[in-house]
Amino acid sequence: MVMSNQYAIVGSGNVGTALARLFSRANIDVSIANTRGPDSLRTLTAELGPRVHAVAVEEALDSEIIFMAIPWSGVSTFGKLLDDWSGRIVVDTSNAHWAPGWEEIVQGRPSSEYNATQLPGASLVKGFNQLPAGVLSSELDPRIGRRVVFLATDVPEAGDRIARLAADLGFSPVQLGRFDEGGLLIQTPHALVLRSFVERPFR
Ligand SMILES: NC(=O)c1ccc[n+]([C@@H]2O[C@H](COP(=O)([O-])OP(=O)(O)OC[C@H]3O[C@@H](n4cnc5c(N)ncnc54)[C@H](OP(=O)(O)O)[C@@H]3O)[C@@H](O)[C@H]2O)c1
Repeated sequence: MVMSNQYAIVGSGNVGTALARLFSRANIDVSIANTRGPDSLRTLTAELGPRVHAVAVEEALDSEIIFMAIPWSGVSTFGKLLDDWSGRIVVDTSNAHWAPGWEEIVQGRPSSEYNATQLPGASLVKGFNQLPAGVLSSELDPRIGRRVVFLATDVPEAGDRIARLAADLGFSPVQLGRFDEGGLLIQTPHALVLRSFVERPFR
């Protein structure tokens, strides 16, 4: 399947904006969409410069890699936008923990394992979810180090692809394995959530 775009962000709130800022800084083209349409994103795209493109959600979905930067309570509705998500990697930035009734819905599964069932065919990678958005996008002098982002997935090739992208965005990616293994460490409220790590360069 040939997609129109390489990278897209759905959601233009705290996390979507932080991600767009990172793409802009790394000089990588990205589309961004929200529920209100491209016109609502003009101020943001003007601020972030020519790498960040405001599009409709439908266009954003025609991308190889889609950052899902929406509230967890909207994931099920979001998943219904496509019958078949095959050929797409979806980066799941959501945290279910604060959503009403989430435990009854996930039934003991990792939240991203549940989310993957809502986007049939997608390769889901959990990540970019365990730091506050402002920390995620804050600049760090590379002489000090690279900020660590943790990734988990049940689809190893997709994890490798997002790890490469994370490195291009200036991070040090650390892959934690499957959702029900290391992935639980980045599920709120577990051990790595809201823990900010920086990998120092070797000297
Ligand atoms: N806030 C943080 O620091 C932080 C950090 C890590 C992870 N997270 C997680 O990241 C996710 C996003 O958090 P946030 O703070 O960025 O939320 P937010 O500021 O409330 O923004 C949510 C965005 O999602 C869009 N949206 C919702 N449903 C949509 C749909 N069906 N299609 C397209 N766009 C949709 C909204 O569109 P409109 O603008 O048109 O309403 C809005 O732009 C949440 O799951 C949260 O748990 C948050």
